[in-house]
Amino acid sequence: MNFDLERIRADFPILKREVNGHPLAYLDSAASAQRPLAVINAESHFYQHGYAAVHRGIHSLSAQATTDMEDVRLQAARFLNASSPEEIVFVKGTTEGINLVANSWGASQLKAGDNLIITEMEHHANIVPWQMVAQRTGAEIRVLPLNDRGELAVEALAGLIDSRTRLLAVTHVSNVLGTVNPVKALVAQAKAAGLVTLVDGAQAVMHGRVDVRDIDCDFYVFSSHKLYGPNGVGILYGRKTLLDEMPPWEGGGSMIDQVMLPTGTTWNKAPWRFEAGTPNTGGIIGFGAALRYVEEIGLDVIQQREQSLMRYALDKLASVPDLVIYGPQDRAGVIAFNLGKHHAYDVGSFLDQYGIAIRTGHHCAMPLMRHFAVPAMCRASFAFYNSEEEADRLAAGLTRIHRLLGG
Ligand SMILES: Cc1ncc(COP(=O)(O)O)c(C=O)c1O
Repeated sequence: MNFDLERIRADFPILKREVNGHPLAYLDSAASAQRPLAVINAESHFYQHGYAAVHRGIHSLSAQATTDMEDVRLQAARFLNASSPEEIVFVKGTTEGINLVANSWGASQLKAGDNLIITEMEHHANIVPWQMVAQRTGAEIRVLPLNDRGELAVEALAGLIDSRTRLLAVTHVSNVLGTVNPVKALVAQAKAAGLVTLVDGAQAVMHGRVDVRDIDCDFYVFSSHKLYGPNGVGILYGRKTLLDEMPPWEGGGSMIDQVMLPTGTTWNKAPWRFEAGTPNTGGIIGFGAALRYVEEIGLDVIQQREQSLMRYALDKLASVPDLVIYGPQDRAGVIAFNLGKHHAYDVGSFLDQYGIAIRTGHHCAMPLMRHFAVPAMCRASFAFYNSEEEADRLAAGLTRIHRLLGG
């Protein structure tokens, strides 16, 4: 494999900094990844040379900014292997993408007595919007459980589906356990029963190639900031036939065709119908640079590198006394653990003193925490810019905390 870690790390200026007198070991990319210079420079270049409001002006800057933004829509469509850029909606992030589907498709399609299926391992972003729309419509929420290995109990899905089941919403990769769910098989089973399917790809797109036509889901959502791009930008892929039928969920500029008084306003076509107001154009341009950046390295190369680093880290962590690791052996990106009886916050604070940044808490997955009967976990996440040395430092730091505090 052709992978030059030093060259990659040089692309990310922040990785050179020190924290608490130690070189930064940034093991929190699953919360938000760092940005390469290519992204920082693209956004800065746009503000210095190309910025103007999009979709509104006839002047050159506005026309060019609009073209640049629409080019990123095309890039995103290619990235996901969507059939057309018209299946790509710019949103603020995964959370907004799921809220859009819940409020548009969900609110217009769900009726009292219908039900929809989510899973026990979802991030709150793929739970709460469905609970809110269920409350409004009288639909019921059903939950596909986890087994104790931290995998979905897929064999239970058939028993949850009946003639009133309308939707399956499932995460591609667990943000806590790193479990890679068999989304293609789950979608096939759901589709055979006539369900609409949504896949939360927030923790998947950065770890390997995603092909929405192969998965065959109706919706796929992810955030730019976990894929080395700017915050405040995300992608909702929607199957064209569904997007075309869905009503807008936010009203305002750009999403209309004709505005009439007192009523009678008509909508723009999809995907623009779902993009009310002035978008985060600079962020979208930066996101385009992030897509180019990961594609130049190659998602297959990234996947191989990360898998090898994860194996190395798991191996190292096996030597830490009283460390409980959650989740299956095969995983993408994240390792969740607790050290003896110590609260995750204490462990995370100690690691921070050694310059090691991990995430601690419930990880916006309280039902999953309840499954494992813990209030919180520590989570180290590994991106392709992390090193074996950083994994060594994590294991050594945890061993030292154990020595200081006991088990
Ligand atoms: C699996 C999963 N879904 C959804 C989200 C929400 O993403 P965002 O906060 O970018 O909208 C996250 C963020 O951590 C996540 O990990």
